[in-house]
Formats: sequence, C-alpha cells, structure tokens
Amino acid sequence: MSTRDRASGSVNPSCVLVIFGAAGDLTKRKLLPALYNLAREKLLPDDFAVVGVARAERDSETFRAQLAGEVSGFVPGKFDPVLWKSIESRVYYVAGEFGDARTFDKLKAQLAEIEQRHKTRGNLLFYLATAPDFFAPIATALREHGLADESNGHWRRLIVEKPFGRDLASAKALNASLLSVLSEKQIYRIDHYLGKETVQNILVFRFANGIFEPVWNRRYVDHVQITVSETLGVEKRGGYYDRAGCMRDMVPNHIFQLISLVGMEPPISFDADAVRDEQSKVLRAIRAPSPEDVLSSAVRGQYGAGGVGGRSLADYRAEPGVPPTSTTETFVAMKLGIDSWRWTGVPFYLRVGKALAARTTEITIRFRKPPLVLFRDTAVDDIFPNDLVIHVQPKEGISLRFGAKIPGAQLKLGGVNMDFDYADHFGATPATGYERLLYDAMQGDQTLFQRADMVEASWAVVAPILDVWQALPPRGFPNYPAGSWGPREAEQLMERDGRSWRTS
Ligand code: BG6
Repeated sequence: MSTRDRASGSVNPSCVLVIFGAAGDLTKRKLLPALYNLAREKLLPDDFAVVGVARAERDSETFRAQLAGEVSGFVPGKFDPVLWKSIESRVYYVAGEFGDARTFDKLKAQLAEIEQRHKTRGNLLFYLATAPDFFAPIATALREHGLADESNGHWRRLIVEKPFGRDLASAKALNASLLSVLSEKQIYRIDHYLGKETVQNILVFRFANGIFEPVWNRRYVDHVQITVSETLGVEKRGGYYDRAGCMRDMVPNHIFQLISLVGMEPPISFDADAVRDEQSKVLRAIRAPSPEDVLSSAVRGQYGAGGVGGRSLADYRAEPGVPPTSTTETFVAMKLGIDSWRWTGVPFYLRVGKALAARTTEITIRFRKPPLVLFRDTAVDDIFPNDLVIHVQPKEGISLRFGAKIPGAQLKLGGVNMDFDYADHFGATPATGYERLLYDAMQGDQTLFQRADMVEASWAVVAPILDVWQALPPRGFPNYPAGSWGPREAEQLMERDGRSWRTS
C-alpha cells in the first residue's frame, strides 16, 4: 500500500471504485464531487478508476459526458475543468440488471481491462448506492464471480448505504447475508453524518481536552437534547419516504450516531474497533421503551400545509408519491434513557422532522444549575442554565452559554455565549461530507463506519416504538403546520419534565 499515516495526508492506495446504482443522485451530487475534492487535495492515487454500474444502456463515453454536465453543479467552490478531466478520463460504465449474472461477467471483464490500463493492483471498493433489496444479491454475485476474494494480496471492500434494514429482523437478516459472503472487515456501513466535520469533532472535543470530561456525566449534566430540523418537505422522495417515515429515515442511523459519540466512554485508543466498542456499548445501554413508555415519551407528527421561510408547502399527503391517506410520520420527538453508570437519570431528548421552522442540527448538553441561588433579595429570580451547544449544521461550531452580570447599579443577569465558529477559525471547507468516508474506506479505516452490532443495537431501541405505532395508527394527522416546530406534544414532552427545547 502506498500509505503514509493520515496525519501527513497520505495518498490512497491504487484501486477501482465500483458504484452500483451509478445513475442515481448520490453519484453526481456526492460521490463524484467528493472524488474531485480528494483529487484537488492530492489524496487520490494516480492509479485509480471509477466504474458506474446501472440499468440504462449507454457506454462509458456517454456516461462521462453526462457526468461532466452534472458534477460541475455539485462541486462546492470553483469548478476546475482540467482537474475534472483527469478524473473523467478514468470513469467507465457497465450496463446491466443487478440481479443478472451477465452484468457481473461484463463488470469482471471491464475490471480486468482497467487493471491493465490503470495498474490498479486488484484493489476494489464497491459502493452499493442501490435500493436495499439489491444489497445482499449484489454481495453474493460479487463473491460468486470471484470479485470479493482477498486471497491474492489485494483488498476487496463493500460500502453499503442506508437504509440498513427496516426493522431489527431485516437488519439482522441483511447482516447475516452480507457476513455469509464477506468478512466484517470488508463491510463499510456508511452513515453520512459521520462524514461531517462537526460530528467527527465531538470525539476530539471530548477526548483531546481535559476540562470537559470531568463534568460530562450525571452529576453535572441535567439533560441532553438533540434537534435535527429540516425546512424542506419530502421533495421528490415521497415514494421512498412514505414507506420509511421519519423514524427509520433518521433516528436509528444519524441521530443514534450522535448519541453514541456524546454518550460513549473514552476508548482505549483511536483504533477502529476500540472506538466502535464504546459506541456499541452506549447504544446497547439505551433502554428500549416499554409500550407505556412509547405512549408517554414518543411523539409522532405529520406536516400539513404551511409556510417555511417565505415558501408555501402543501400537505405532506399531497406530495407526489404519497397516498392521500398516509399515516407516515414526518416528525418524531422522544425521550430516551441510557442505563449506564455515567448517564443513568439523565434524559436524552430528541426531535427531528421535515418542514420545520428552521434548518438546524445541534446537540445541547444542559448542565445542572448551581445548588443554591445566592442572589436572594436581589433582582435575580432565575439563573441561566449553562448550555454547551455543538452546532452541527448549517452553523458549524461550539458555544458555551453562561450567566454574566449586566452592567449597572442593580444586580441583573444576562445569558452570554462563548463561541467557536469553524468557518471563522479554519476558513470554509468546501466539501460534500463524503470525502473523509471514501478516503477512509480506501485506507481500510473502519472507525467512521457502523459495525453489525451497532446497527442491530440501534434497531433494538426503535423497534418497540415502531411496533406500538403500527398497532395504534395515528388519529389526528396532519398535526403540525409546515413552518412550525412540530406538534404541540413535542413541547409538552419537555414541559412535563419542567424543561424546554433550546431556542437560539
Ligand atoms: C438522509 C435522509 O439520510 O439525510 C434525508 O434520507 C435527510 O431524508 C438527510 O434529509 C439529511 O441529511 P443532512 O446532511 O442534510 O442533514
């Protein structure tokens, strides 16, 4: 391998990236722009090629021409056509059905030719950007065609996009099928939230600083709240979304990744399995709610018509691909408990949804108030809670809120922020979020990818909620207007505990 360590920005080893489902949005919006960014940073090897596999009949030339037009629109920052040409000349296309053995014969022949021409040394990185029904059949076909075999000193890896199952049983079945043809070391279950700088920074923030860890526990933390709000509706994805719903789309994957990074114990090293062992432990410690808990601590919602940021949105039920009587949730709020020494008694609240008032993803660690309010007989009647807020997007940074004396003769307190802003400190980094993940997969570093046990632990928590919801269809949908903060019950979930969602 032409690897130096990551700190020195090592060039990746020679390889071919094979994208199944290359005609989809992900290829043009994220994967090719991410490769372009890696090339710009000189992190792609010269001996590299990309093969797109999809159903539509076309040749490599046509595929390249189409990509050229599309990718330039999705590359963050200024587009450099010369740089793109250097990638484009290494892009190939294979047409075929994923369930047809002939597709894999053609792919094998194409890969042999590429290996001769580009000296890619037999290293293959497969990317499954297909409908989930194809995950296991493609992996099996790769094995049957000798394409998953690592015995000749080269590596073969498989990146799997979400959704990874639609419940615990299907996630287990998918893990079992993949593991019957590949080893866990070859499987990279991707979650694009882990490609975000701010999410990766949670580990650095917690474990590269001495001052936060001592207070990062039940003695000092009152609760943790996570908001992942989007202003968009389901756009053109009604067909997929209506079958998935907000819970499956966001919670056991993206949000549980955030919980695991905030909640985990310090790993014994930054080795992939050491980190994932700790993430897995915290996921397993999240208490699976009883049916009674689901009724009291989980809220679902669906948006109706409304206005978001000057745009008007129709009812979710009027979106293309969504049945007019749909009972699919577009909003979830819930309270979870983690049964661990560190977190017992500290609620984790989360809310996530589409068509909400603002686009923001943030994690708030709210600390306990001081034990005694010493300001009796003054104008101070309440103390500001200390909030440590990890701003994931669109603002990227960390802020710490504390109370300060407002200048003047009377004693009055105001809440003020200490702010760290990524863009101010490090400059804006034009990236898609897939650069680091593709880079790591080529390097063979699985730290930012989910292991089978992590996926199953996450499903085990949300499964009972989905079961209760399925048994008791929602009555009052739609129950929040587009452009609001979700159904009233989401506020009540907090109010009942004497708490509230953070407002910025
Ligand atoms: C995807 C979901 O995984 O994440 C989408 O399928 C959602 O529904 C998206 O909009 C959110 O990602 P981001 O990076 O915009 O927060």
